[in-house]
Order: sequence, then C-alpha cells, then structure tokens
Amino acid sequence: MAHDTIVLTGDRPTGPLHLGHYVGSLANRVELQNTYKQFVMIADVQALTDNFDNPQKVRDNILQVGLDYLAVGIDPNKSTIFIQSLIPQIAELAIFYLNFVTINRLKRNPTVKAEIAQKNYGENVTAGFLTYPVHQAADITVVKGALVPIGEDQLPMIEQTNEIVRAFNRTYNAEVLVEAKPLISHVPRLPGLDGKGKMSKSLGNAIFLSDTADVVAKKVMSMYTDPDHIRVSDPGQVEGNVVFTYLDIFDTDKNEIRELKAHYRRGGLGDVVIKKKLIEVLNGFLDPIRTRRAELEKDLAYVMAVLFKGSQDTQAVAAQTMDEVRKAMRLDYETMLKKS
Ligand code: TRP
Repeated sequence: MAHDTIVLTGDRPTGPLHLGHYVGSLANRVELQNTYKQFVMIADVQALTDNFDNPQKVRDNILQVGLDYLAVGIDPNKSTIFIQSLIPQIAELAIFYLNFVTINRLKRNPTVKAEIAQKNYGENVTAGFLTYPVHQAADITVVKGALVPIGEDQLPMIEQTNEIVRAFNRTYNAEVLVEAKPLISHVPRLPGLDGKGKMSKSLGNAIFLSDTADVVAKKVMSMYTDPDHIRVSDPGQVEGNVVFTYLDIFDTDKNEIRELKAHYRRGGLGDVVIKKKLIEVLNGFLDPIRTRRAELEKDLAYVMAVLFKGSQDTQAVAAQTMDEVRKAMRLDYETMLKKS
C-alpha cells in the first residue's frame, strides 16, 4: 500500500500501557509511521462508555498513555496523536451513522456481547456502550482510515464500520466514505504473569512500561513457570512456562535461549536463574523507555501540547470529511444562501 494510505489506531485511556500493548500494537506503530500517514487516537470517549462515572480516571490516563506513546517512539513528527473528545466531528458523524445500524445488529456484535456478559450489564446496558462500535466507525472514517491495525478481537468493529460505509455511500449515492482494511497482528497474545490469560490491567497480571526496575524484578519473581519443576534437579517444562515465553520474545540472544531451554528440560536449572535472566532482559529492554518517560514527565505541558497539536491537525482533516458528508446528505445548507 502506498505512502499516502491512512492508518488509524488507538487505545482507551483506562490505565498505563503494558508489555502486552507493546508486543501487540506499539512496536507495530513505531514501524508503520515510517510508511503510512498514521493517526493514533486516545479513545477517551470510548473509555467513558464504561467509565462515565469515573472521569478522573480517564483524565489521568490521557497523560499516562500519551507518555507511553512518546516513550516507546511514536514520533509526533511522523504520527498524528490525538484525543478523541477533541474531535467533535466524530460525535457528529456517529449520530448520522446510527441511522444505518439496527439495535439487533448492535446486540449481535461479538466483542460487545462478550463485554456486556463480562461486565454483567444484561438488559441495563447503556445506549452509549451498546453503540460504541458505531462511534468507532466514526473514529476510523472521519480521517478516511484505510488500514486499521488491530488484534483479532477488534475484527467485528471493522465489519461494522464497513457495513456503515457501504450503506452510507449507497444511500447517498456518494463515494465519500472509505472502507477500512484490518491489519491483523499475528503476534500471539502475550500471556500475563500468571500464565492464565492474556496480559491485562484488569486481571492484575501486567508489567507496565512505566514499572520501575524493582517492580519488574518482583513481578518476574512471581511469574508462573512449571508447577512440577520442584527441585532444581527436576526436568522442567518449557511449553507454557511464561518465563520462556517472554525470553523468546524479548531476549535477542537466540543461542542463549536454546541452551537455557535444553538445560531446563534436562534438569539442573532452577527457576530463580531463568527469572534473573528475564529480569535482566526486560529491564534492558525497558530502560531506554523509562529514561525517555522520565524526561517527558518533567514537562507534562509539552506532552499535552503534542496531543493538542495532533488534535488540531485531526480536526482539520475531519472538517474536510464532514464537508463531503454534509454535501452527500443534502445538509450543505450554506449553498442555499448564495444567489444564483
Ligand atoms: N476499541 C479499541 C480497544 O478497545 C480502541 C479503539 C477505539 C480503536 N477506536 C478505535 C482501535 C479505532 C482502532 C480503531 O482497544
């Protein structure tokens, strides 16, 4: 795809970002920004759909996520980082899109369905939550995002988006909106410290990019390994052993890993040794990110200025899209003011 292809990605600001985010999407964005016109959105409006009663949490995490983005190397000179709620056109567009979506269709969205079950909303699910995929369609299409890097779980959002795009273009006989292509990350999900599920803040099994070296050490020492590897001399299992899963991803010395694995399988290699190795590897990886984060934390006004500048640039793009949308929808009333 060409250099002028527009990429749209984003995260809900509900907590600082962790290693799972890094592996699943941040690393990818640092690459994509060199090839595409990339927009990275801090989805505060979407975060509010299930945190509307806790706005301070969302406010605080705008900065945390902004700091994480800049610290990992999302470069404001290459990517446009913006705050969702500062783009009123997204809300405007979402209202128009709601006409193209039935309540039944919304209730069938597998991602939303799973979230409703997980949060026990049942019949009391709010309209805001149920309709967030429509809002997400507006996020993507307001900048004419053609490529959306996502995890598998977000695929229903892209399907929903494209249904709206096609219905809109067909109904108004226009080619205003652009269909979005998912760019699915094939990197397997990073397991959490407990090895039970994917790394996530809500499961309490995450290593955050902003964790200190000591916290990382403590967390690694608590990591799930092989429950049957009791004595150092016992042969141990590498598969499903979270320490090795992480070493595979973060240790660049592949020979060393191969030897460690063989030794562990044979027996005679203790968990503490492999954990110490992983602590060294992870802290080596996180150190430059921490250093940049610490620098940026000294100047939070700069971070906010980056987010505001990105939001202004996004508003300009969004305003252009809305001109076309309004024209297609016969809402360009200003033309009726002009004398013929
Ligand atoms: N729903 C995404 C998540 O929960 C965040 C998000 C909001 C997003 N709008 C988006 C992702 C648009 C990609 C494109 O992580």
